[in-house]
Amino acid sequence: MTYQRVSAIQMSADEFRKVGHQLIDRIAEFLDDIYERPVTAGLSGEEVRALLKPGPLPEDPGEISGIMEHAYEVLSENSLFNGHPKFMGYITSSPAPAGILADLMAAAMNPNVGAQILSPVATEIEKETIKWLAQFIGLNENYGGILVSGGNMANFTGFLAARTAKGSEEIKSHGMKAAGSMVVYCAKSTHTWIEKAAILFGLGSDSIRWIPTTFSNKMNIPLLEAAIKIDLEKGHTPSIVVGTAGDVSTGAVDDLNRIGEICEEYNMWFHVDGAYGVPAVAVPVVKELFNGLEKADSIALDPHKWFYAPLEAGCTLVKNPTHLTDTFSSHPEYYKFDRQEVNFYEYGLQNSRGFRALKVWVALQQVGRKEYEKLIAEDIELAQYLFALAEAHPELEAFSHNLSITTFRYAPPEAMEKEKLNELNSALLEHLQKNGEVFLSNAIIRGNYCLRACIVNFRTSRKDIEDVMEIVVREGRKLV
Ligand SMILES: Cc1ncc(COP(=O)(O)O)c(C=O)c1O
Repeated sequence: MTYQRVSAIQMSADEFRKVGHQLIDRIAEFLDDIYERPVTAGLSGEEVRALLKPGPLPEDPGEISGIMEHAYEVLSENSLFNGHPKFMGYITSSPAPAGILADLMAAAMNPNVGAQILSPVATEIEKETIKWLAQFIGLNENYGGILVSGGNMANFTGFLAARTAKGSEEIKSHGMKAAGSMVVYCAKSTHTWIEKAAILFGLGSDSIRWIPTTFSNKMNIPLLEAAIKIDLEKGHTPSIVVGTAGDVSTGAVDDLNRIGEICEEYNMWFHVDGAYGVPAVAVPVVKELFNGLEKADSIALDPHKWFYAPLEAGCTLVKNPTHLTDTFSSHPEYYKFDRQEVNFYEYGLQNSRGFRALKVWVALQQVGRKEYEKLIAEDIELAQYLFALAEAHPELEAFSHNLSITTFRYAPPEAMEKEKLNELNSALLEHLQKNGEVFLSNAIIRGNYCLRACIVNFRTSRKDIEDVMEIVVREGRKLV
């Protein structure tokens, strides 16, 4: 092949093959020995900057093989690996190897999945992926939706659809001065996205009613009802209730059925944040927790959490997809797109869109429904095992176990005041997060600083859980 134009950006097929094979070989080795690596090198920003040897913007072309090799070396030696079996920190999963390859293919084809005409195949793949995700969590095939970058965006998309559906029609032309006093209800434990949404989308943070939680971290339903009644008396407009299916701190699932009934009674939009937890509805032992999910008008779920997709992949599902087009559609004269087709720019915030569906679609076929169900069930069992080990250990205190999140803390045999114990566990976590043996995070439960393990990781085994217990006790003792 001879190229008409010669430039440094081109790569011949041979060069691409050579650099590509080299990279694939390196990644294959990396995936094989990830078990032996530290979870993190624990470097500070300053240390990483020194490694990168910052310099001016290059003026002239570089040699791609060396550039890729350098990038691989720096990344593979100094990153934090959420694919490591002992990464149990935040809710980011190990990336499915098939998803890694699919992302490469998606970048090579580079369809713009904003419009059907620009992505005839990718659009259909995204539609099928959304249908499969809805099917996995037990919803009927009339649900529609869109893939987005993650949980925040999935929740924002549902929130905006709710604002359109329950707000005045004039919001579009007059802005939020036409919104009246719309009010949103959610449990105190709801993820930070809700605050961002209220601020960014014009309702304001004062429009949020933070409903207290029960002992088990679920929304207190009588207090929800009471808050709605007070708002009605004051002339506000109760508009949206957010139920959480797997809260970020402890994995608790709100009483979705009751929330759904209350939303029906008061004509409110019911949004479920299932970004983390909702795939567990497929697991028989916890299925009942999600009763009422089908009452939700919109649901957020994240393939980059419990479907083990590489970042980024979130999804919004809506019972009636026209709520998305009512919210996001516009038809400028320069877009002569076929309106009979799904053009995804009309379903969400993005215009040009990448092909994030491919990695999810590929993995759903490679793994299949039954095996996904098994993997999720195993993650739940591992968290349960961790809870049981912590409960049985004289120097550990187990606090909670819901879905695949367990909270616990180190408590030395000698009595310690609550404040001291909190300080000890905070220092312990800081130390653990740097030393690279295991990566945990924290949760505050009834004023107690706890360590938090969240397992959305197909590499984690029972041996890893036992190791984590040993490490926590060993390092806890040292700190005391
Ligand atoms: C319940 C819940 N909602 C929303 C989010 C935000 O997701 P993301 O970080 O993908 O935006 C998280 C993240 O952990 C979560 O656990």
